[in-house]
Amino acid sequence: MPLPALDTSAAFLALRQHRDIAATWTLRDLFAENPNRFKEFSVTAGGLFLDYSKNRLNRQTVALLCALARERGVEARRAAMFAGAKINNTENRAVLHTALRAPRGAVLEIDGQDINRDVHAVLDRIKAFSDRVRSGEWRGHTGEAITDIVNIGIGGSDLGPEMVCRALRSFAHPRLSLHFVANVDGHDLDAVLSSLNPATTLFIIASKTFTTAETMQNAGSARNWFLQSAAIEALPQHFVAVSTNTKAVTAFGIDAANMFPFWDWVGGRYSIWSAIGLSVALAIGAERFGEFLAGAHAMDEHFRSAPLEQNMPALLGLIGVWHRNFFATTSISIAPYHQDLSQFADYLQQLEMESNGKRVTRNGAPLHYESCPAVWGNVGTNGQHAYFQLLHQGTDVIPVDFIAALKATHRLPGHQAALLANCFAQSEAFMRGKTSDEVREDLQAQQLPPAEIEALLPHKTFPGNRPSNTILMDSLSPGNLGALIALYEHKTFVQGVIWDVNSFDQWGVELGKVLAKNIHVELTGDAHQQEHDSSTNGLIAMAKAAL
Ligand code: F6P
Repeated sequence: MPLPALDTSAAFLALRQHRDIAATWTLRDLFAENPNRFKEFSVTAGGLFLDYSKNRLNRQTVALLCALARERGVEARRAAMFAGAKINNTENRAVLHTALRAPRGAVLEIDGQDINRDVHAVLDRIKAFSDRVRSGEWRGHTGEAITDIVNIGIGGSDLGPEMVCRALRSFAHPRLSLHFVANVDGHDLDAVLSSLNPATTLFIIASKTFTTAETMQNAGSARNWFLQSAAIEALPQHFVAVSTNTKAVTAFGIDAANMFPFWDWVGGRYSIWSAIGLSVALAIGAERFGEFLAGAHAMDEHFRSAPLEQNMPALLGLIGVWHRNFFATTSISIAPYHQDLSQFADYLQQLEMESNGKRVTRNGAPLHYESCPAVWGNVGTNGQHAYFQLLHQGTDVIPVDFIAALKATHRLPGHQAALLANCFAQSEAFMRGKTSDEVREDLQAQQLPPAEIEALLPHKTFPGNRPSNTILMDSLSPGNLGALIALYEHKTFVQGVIWDVNSFDQWGVELGKVLAKNIHVELTGDAHQQEHDSSTNGLIAMAKAAL
């Protein structure tokens, strides 16, 4: 049965009324009135700690948001997802990335197939292969051990492996260098290949469909590059594939024995837990890859069993809805205070924006309310010296998620305290701001002339009352990273249910692909130029003259 439109639901309307009251609150006052606020509005799960006290909310807000989640059927849809129901309705597919991190022996059948056995059979193969490459037993065609691994893929077949390998680089095998090529722009592959020895390089061609144009073009060029110095018989030692499409993999020239499969019930942006994580297993070893999966599983167990009021992913999702649908925020900024999470915002961009960047409901009715905000960000402290100005004093309010590990994995003295001090100071500054009276007092103490003080006042005043979450973990271990990613996956799920969109398809990427194919033919062949608009015609003509 279709859900009633979100903006007509009773819980939504109750929240709208409540918003009018909440809009008069300041975070400063909320903290001043309740010394227990930090304790009351924080939650621990799967090795992570979430402090959501620096948002404009109180107990009643949380209760109303949880009522909204219940009214929208979050709990039932969560159960449906974990049970393997075909909740991806436009592609008629189950959504079972959670099954990829379930321990051996967990019971789950899809269409009569024992999913857990299939998953662990592939994990066993990943372990056997990564053990051989890491130990040096797997050799290239000249008898040398592998030194460089190039993952060729794009979107979910690139962002996850690259982000996770970067995040866990302190656990990486010292002999193996990992490289990632995604862009069809030849500068990407060219720059990587120029530093490599083909005899010690292993390519992973990672593509769920094995038809993605960018990946196929890069894979073909990598194969040509390799065959300039080796015979075709050497290919199996240097090319492996990760895909759901055995036929296309073998047609490309990769033996099915060198293909690591996964399944159509794993969405591209949810595939890091599948064989798409092969480069991660190669870098950190199968055991630590297992810890990464176990961390995500711990978050799954929390998500499926904790009441919404204490459920970390549900709360994170609901707070996002609170900002987006009741305070009209248009983007969220991700600020990991950990250099090794430098690609985390890029990863979340695909996870959230490809999942929930939708304009119709699951049943195709237009939305009359906002869905996914834009997601962007960069590591702290770098962002502080670039765009944080706008976050503090710009005309838009942009909620921020701060993410930090309490302990570092490096041994340089002094840095970690400086890093954490900055992280906590920023969220404090967003929350408190600085009033004009406080600014005046500061300037008077510096003995500035009164006229100058008055002129500077508006520039130096911070409105504050700007919301943020802070997520802490002990250290950026494989398990904690697994939990962190799963946290955002389930946050995305909760928001998709509230907004009543299909979070698991991505039709919006298709039109550009089709048009690019047509224009590519026009640019490279003798095909007669089609009738485009004058801008597109003009751009094509300029490129044709230059190519
Ligand atoms: O075009 C978008 C997309 O389908 C993503 O959803 C996906 O992660 C990416 O392309 C790569 O797809 P594939 O793994 O099939 O090459």
